[in-house]
Amino acid sequence: MKSLLQRRDAVLGPKMTTFYREPVEIVRGEGVWLWDAGGRRYLDCYNNVPHVGHCHPRVVEAIARQAATLNTHTRYLHEGVVSYGERITGLLGDGLDVLTMVCTGSEANDIALRMGMAITGKTGIIGTDNTYHGNTHLVSQLSSKRTPIGGRADWVRRVPSPDSLRPLGGSAEGQAEAFAGEVRKAIGELEAAGHGFAALILDPFFANEGFPDLAPGFLVATAEVVRKAGGILIADEVQRGFGRTGRHFWGHERIGLRPDVVTMGKPMGNGHPVAGVVARRELVAAFRDSFSYFNTFGGNPVSATAAHAVLDVIEDEGLMENAHEVGDYVLGRMREIRHLRIADVRGAGMFVGMEFVEDEALTPAEAFTAEVVERMRERGVLLNKLGRGGNVLKIRPPMVFSRANADLFVDTLAEVLGGME
Ligand SMILES: Cc1ncc(COP(=O)(O)O)c(C=O)c1O
Repeated sequence: MKSLLQRRDAVLGPKMTTFYREPVEIVRGEGVWLWDAGGRRYLDCYNNVPHVGHCHPRVVEAIARQAATLNTHTRYLHEGVVSYGERITGLLGDGLDVLTMVCTGSEANDIALRMGMAITGKTGIIGTDNTYHGNTHLVSQLSSKRTPIGGRADWVRRVPSPDSLRPLGGSAEGQAEAFAGEVRKAIGELEAAGHGFAALILDPFFANEGFPDLAPGFLVATAEVVRKAGGILIADEVQRGFGRTGRHFWGHERIGLRPDVVTMGKPMGNGHPVAGVVARRELVAAFRDSFSYFNTFGGNPVSATAAHAVLDVIEDEGLMENAHEVGDYVLGRMREIRHLRIADVRGAGMFVGMEFVEDEALTPAEAFTAEVVERMRERGVLLNKLGRGGNVLKIRPPMVFSRANADLFVDTLAEVLGGME
């Protein structure tokens, strides 16, 4: 009989990636725990989408209740989507007061970029050179993994991403100015090529870039450059938003950035596919004048109800405080681990990592990091890696992660590293 993996390969086709050398078949989840088909339990240190915990009963109940009552689209009036819009814009303020609800982070970023094009009448967009903002035709122009067919469009520029260990411009103090300088240069190129400059899109936590440690104010000079050139600033909060790093609800608040557009997704519905774009009113007006926009599933009553329930749980269970407190604890414990290849331990709240290098020249230890990930899985702890060199452990668990969970994770990591050279 064919295995599930063989049947998957046959019917889902080639290059459908799986995590881990031996792919895991997960059949059940609860809180920070996942169970495989053989009944083995794993500690989930990776998944940020089930933000308030796998299968949180309040979110499940809210979805089921609304699904049993009504599910339509935004061309009818419905209290749920309107009150969610009021609630999420209330968490942003600063002129960010209009919500467009969609289903994925990719769609949200696609719309945000087109808002920039609509308000400026220009097409030039800028992202970092080591990023991912999604999979639409427009947004995938910014992805660093593969060059788009026909080459990267001439109206796209990618600036070097900041780095904790290898700062742009050669020093941590000079990195903010160096980054702003790269953005200025890219804008100049777009203008010289006749495209003009529409938007800079950044994850303010630079998660996919390896979440470098950056001081508050890091993006102040960059924001000035963008504003002076007449473009808009998009904060991609798809991965980082909803309080993940503990103290601040949004990544842009944490770094002190005032964006024109904020995109959100992944954790927003705890696994229910809901995402959103919040922007200044004039941007939304320009977008809706330029592009006739309707999204069949975006903002349906079930999605709005799921998203409401997630906010309720974050508030009622004090999950930001938990992220802050447990995050500090886990970072402290990770910093106690000694190993030749550890070059850095960083992050905040429920998004932390450990960077491994080969040598004093800071060559990324990619194969070593991959092996750590595999050995952790063998011991029942799920995590992964990211960063330009694939050498940073990505620890991004559901927000209900406790001190006891942190101890299990750190003890397992210390044991795994103790057995590796
Ligand atoms: C920062 C960031 N933006 C956007 C996306 C795309 O979101 P989605 O997969 O929901 O389309 C991702 C997905 O990994 C992401 O990490």
